[in-house]
Amino acid sequence: MTLTFQARIDGNQIRCLISTDRHLTAPIFCFSLMAAPKVISGGTLVRRVAGYAEVALPDLAAGARHEVVLEHANKEFGPRNRAWLPLGAYLRVGKECLPLPPGTDLGPRRTEGPPALQLAPDRLPLVPQPTDWRASGGGVALAALAPTTGLEGVATLAERLGLDPILAPGGLPLVVTEDADLGPEGYRLTIAPDGLAAAVGGAAGLHYAGVSLLTLRETCGGQLPCGTITDRPRFGWRGQHLDCARHFFGVDFILRLLDLMALLKLNRFHWHFADDEAFRLEVRCQPLLWQRTAFRGEGELVPGVFGGGIRAGGSYSRADVARVLARAKALHIEVLPEIEIPAHSHAMIKAVPGLRDPGDNGEEVSIQGYLDNIVNPAVPATWDLLLPLAREVAGLFPFGMLHLGADEAPHGAWGGSPAVAALKAREGLQTSDDVQGWMLAKLAGDLGAAGVRVAAWEEAAKGCQGGVGNGALLFSWTGQGPGIQAARRGHDVVMCPAQNAYFDLAHSDDADDWGAAWAGFVPLEKTVAWDPVPKGAEDIAPRIAGVEACFWGEFTTEDRQAEGMIAPRILGIATKGWEPAGRTDGPALRALAGVYGPLLDRIGWRRHRGA
Ligand code: ACM
Repeated sequence: MTLTFQARIDGNQIRCLISTDRHLTAPIFCFSLMAAPKVISGGTLVRRVAGYAEVALPDLAAGARHEVVLEHANKEFGPRNRAWLPLGAYLRVGKECLPLPPGTDLGPRRTEGPPALQLAPDRLPLVPQPTDWRASGGGVALAALAPTTGLEGVATLAERLGLDPILAPGGLPLVVTEDADLGPEGYRLTIAPDGLAAAVGGAAGLHYAGVSLLTLRETCGGQLPCGTITDRPRFGWRGQHLDCARHFFGVDFILRLLDLMALLKLNRFHWHFADDEAFRLEVRCQPLLWQRTAFRGEGELVPGVFGGGIRAGGSYSRADVARVLARAKALHIEVLPEIEIPAHSHAMIKAVPGLRDPGDNGEEVSIQGYLDNIVNPAVPATWDLLLPLAREVAGLFPFGMLHLGADEAPHGAWGGSPAVAALKAREGLQTSDDVQGWMLAKLAGDLGAAGVRVAAWEEAAKGCQGGVGNGALLFSWTGQGPGIQAARRGHDVVMCPAQNAYFDLAHSDDADDWGAAWAGFVPLEKTVAWDPVPKGAEDIAPRIAGVEACFWGEFTTEDRQAEGMIAPRILGIATKGWEPAGRTDGPALRALAGVYGPLLDRIGWRRHRGA
């Protein structure tokens, strides 16, 4: 049989056209939107879980076209671009599920963008720009370096990226010396007609010297300019986050992302594998967690929220974790796992009994529209799960740090829970922020005793007792203000302001573009139009650990759709994490993106070309 499906934005509404060549009796139209939908005409809403909906349609006659008109229930979420149209749509007819084709073409557009700007002659075609570059005139042809101990990671990177070998017998010798003053990640590279030399502060410095040589060989057409590069990063934390909960990214994609990060000297991979839609790590302490939530869709505990459709998902085995860790280690990248509590835990609550207070008669609704997405810290089952879970997950990752989540607790969380009321009375807590802070501090204390440092989103600083405390590293995501406040209260902070560093936000306001919009749009230029240590907050500089870009997967249905959201904007986060303040502005980054375009094409990483 043939089903057709088209969806388009019409002002604040979404118009869906469905047709079939076979008579269908009482079909149910199942789909998800970015946020909770409302049916304006064409059917009756019969079930909703967050942005997922089931709409009962009238019988569809063969050959007829049926229109369903939708809106987002919250008017603030007007549809902005193609990513806001129904995803993962299908019809359920009796016991049969019939997939509908995508109502729109999926993923960021790939049309040509503005013409490339010219790179200023005093700049190297290198991202991030080195701390200092002194040209001495002339050039040196580099096909490959002679085999060099300490550059194995760069050599295998080149091989995987499909570039010519960077280490080869008969290649140019690289004379390596140590200079501790350069810092562990720093290096000084001398490129001269009579040879190449690298002074390095440590193993990472040598690796980065190799990454620079590999990149310059590619971006300079094999002819390196002579001179001296002196280089070291501004920040120790140069991160990229990937949401593998909303969309299950295959391990091969994660490994490719690590390779791209390495090419840009990014050194922290924040692995977000747990959220409302799934918990994807194959933990031993509570197998139900991943066994019951790895897949979502028809008949599963979590329906097809965020483009899950009839069935989508997967989980990461210990062997998968080992592959990710081995690749990361070879590329001088640390991996930060995140378990995401107490909110964003709908899947956890569905999978493991007893994580809510049965007496809770509250009416909290999460920002994504879940009615039950926060675990209750006043019931024993929560601690029976969390204490061993946090220790097991942290123990799988050698970095020694675990991200607890802690973002977006629903307004009024636990307000109807008698167990939490008793906890408040016992512990002297008033608000739900106090309760969350108490809970996080307890978990962080237990992890601290096991030698694990905790990290969390900015909200973890809230609460009358100082929130999570325990030396936690906090991630400032709604902007930089919460990070400044947390730093002034003694926290180390990673700046990941959505307005500049959220790569799931659309590049532009074009309705034909792709992506979220809650914090505005993020064209390439905006990724460098900020300072991790903002003006007027110079006092917090010692507390700013660095920067991170986030990629959330709500509207990703295939791994490769993420590529054009991440590139070229990942050049901007690499710039912010490494370079001295203000070195590269928007036009300069645009020019560098022009230089990196052909390199990204060569390594097979899609890039957004518009905006
Ligand atoms: C977040 O974007 N909710 C951390």
